[in-house]
Amino acid sequence: MANNQTVLILDFGGQYKELIARRVRECGVYSEIRPNSISLEEIRAIHPIGIIFTGGPDSVYAPGAPACPREVLELGVPVLGICYGMQLITKLLGGQVSPCSKSEYGTLTAELAEDSVLFGEYSGSQRVLMSHTDFVSAPPAGFRVTAHTELCPCAAMENPEKGIYAVQFHPEVENTVNGKAILNRFLYTVCRAAGDYSMSDYLEKQIRQVRETVGSGRVLLGLSGGVDSSVAAALLSRAIPGQLTCIYIDHGFMRKNETEEIKKAFAGRDLDFVHVDARERFLTRLRGVTDPEQKRKIIGAEFARAFEDEAKKCGNPEFLAQGTIYPDVVESGTNSAVIKSHHNVGGLPEDLGFKGVVEPLRGLFKDEVRKLGLMLKLPRQIVFRQPFPGPGLAIRIIGEVTEEKLDLLREADAIVRQEIGRSRCRADQFFAVLTNVRSVGVMGDGRTYEYTLAIRAVRTNDFMTCEYARLPHTLLNRMASRITNEVKGINRVVYDVTSKPPATIEWE
Ligand code: XMP
Repeated sequence: MANNQTVLILDFGGQYKELIARRVRECGVYSEIRPNSISLEEIRAIHPIGIIFTGGPDSVYAPGAPACPREVLELGVPVLGICYGMQLITKLLGGQVSPCSKSEYGTLTAELAEDSVLFGEYSGSQRVLMSHTDFVSAPPAGFRVTAHTELCPCAAMENPEKGIYAVQFHPEVENTVNGKAILNRFLYTVCRAAGDYSMSDYLEKQIRQVRETVGSGRVLLGLSGGVDSSVAAALLSRAIPGQLTCIYIDHGFMRKNETEEIKKAFAGRDLDFVHVDARERFLTRLRGVTDPEQKRKIIGAEFARAFEDEAKKCGNPEFLAQGTIYPDVVESGTNSAVIKSHHNVGGLPEDLGFKGVVEPLRGLFKDEVRKLGLMLKLPRQIVFRQPFPGPGLAIRIIGEVTEEKLDLLREADAIVRQEIGRSRCRADQFFAVLTNVRSVGVMGDGRTYEYTLAIRAVRTNDFMTCEYARLPHTLLNRMASRITNEVKGINRVVYDVTSKPPATIEWE
C-alpha cells in the first residue's frame, strides 16, 4: 500500500506464507507476498525495508526448485530466511545443505545463542516448530551458527554485517512460543521499522483513494450479506456517501431472519439499498432439478442475470465495487486488477460497461477485514459470520428444492445454530442439512413418515480439510429433541461424523 513501509515476503511455495504476512502486519508493519520470480527491478520499486524468504516443500538442489537471484541478498535490505529460505540463502552464498539423517517434525526445544542480534533476550532453551528433511551442514562464509537442536547442529545462523538472518524453525506459527517476538525483533531491531501500519490508517487511506478514483461517479456493489461484501459496503458508504448503490438479491435460500438482519445492518447508512425479491424466479428455475452441480450452475447463471437486470435499472453506474480480499489476490497469482468471478455465485457479466473496479479490501486478510468491520460498526453476527455458500440453503437440501423443504430447513438450522452457538464447544462451521430420506417414526399413538435432518459441525482452520466436531451427547440430544418437537415434518436427526477428506464440509 502506498506510503507504508513494506516488508516483502518472497514465496518459495511454503504453506505458511500468508501466516508470515499476517504476523508481520500484526507487528504493525505492512507486508506483501510476491512470487519468487519477481524481478530485481520490481523489488527495488517496492522499496522494502526487509525481505523474508518463506519455507518451501522442495530440496534446494532438486531440479527446478524455486530460487531467486543472489543479488536479492545484495540490495542492502535485511533478509530473514525461514526453513527452505534458510537453505536457499546457504546455497546462494556457497554453503552446504544436506539431507537429515532423521527428519525433524514437530515442536521441540532449540538452544538459542545469547549474543544473537536476531534473538536478543529470547535466547536459551526455546520451544520451536521444526519441519524439515534437509539442514544446513556448512553455513556460508561469514555466518555464525546461533541455534541448534538435538538433531540439527545449525537451526539458525546470522551475518549481521550483511544484514542476513536465517532460522530453520518457523517463527510464524503459534507453536514457536516466542516466534512472534523474534519476528518483531527482525522488524524493529534489524529493519528499524517505524510501525506505521494500522487498521485505522488503512481505513483513512482507502477512503482517500476511493474518493480519488471515483470522483463524483456512482458505484454499484453486489451485497451478499457475507463478511467481505458487507465490510466493503460499509467502507464505501463512509467514503462516498450518497454515491453507492448496493444490490441485495434475495434468491430465497437465505437462513432464518437473515434478509431482515442484513437490511437492518445497512439501514441508516448513506447508500441506496436495493432489495430484490427474486425468490420466485430462482425456485421456478430449480423445479425438478436434483443434481448438485446443475443446481449450482443454474443458481449462478440466474444470479448473474438478476444482477444484470437490476444494474440496468440503476442507470449505469460507472464503477463496480467488489469485496476482493488479499488471499484472493495471492491465490490468483496476479497482482493486477481483474474483474474476478463473484465471490459467492457464478460469474458477474463483464459487459455491463463499467469504467472501473473498486476493491477497497484488496490488501487485507480476513481477520483484518473483520477488524475493519467492527471499526465500521457492523453488527457482530455479520462480522463473524461463518462461511455460507452463495447458493445458500439450496445446496443444503438434498434433491429437489421446494418452498416446503426450505421452511423446514430454515427452522431446524436456526435451532442447530442457536444451540451449538451458545454451547462452549469449539466448532468453526455448523449447520443443518435436509436429507432426501424419509423414514418411519412414531409420535403419540400415530405413525409418521417424515424427513431426516443431518447436523454438520466441523473444526477447521482453513476450510480445506476438517475434522467433525466431537459434540457432547447432551448437546446432540437437546438438538434432536428440539428439532423433532418444534419442526413439524422432521422425525429423525442424525449427526455427520465424517471428516474432509473424504467428505466435504457441504453435502452438495
Ligand atoms: P466444501 O464443501 O468444499 O466447503 O468442503 C469448503 C468451504 O467453502 C464453503 N463453500 C462455499 N463458499 N461459495 C462460497 O462462498 C460456494 O459456492 C461455496 N461452497 C462451499 C463451505 O461452506 C465451506 O466453508
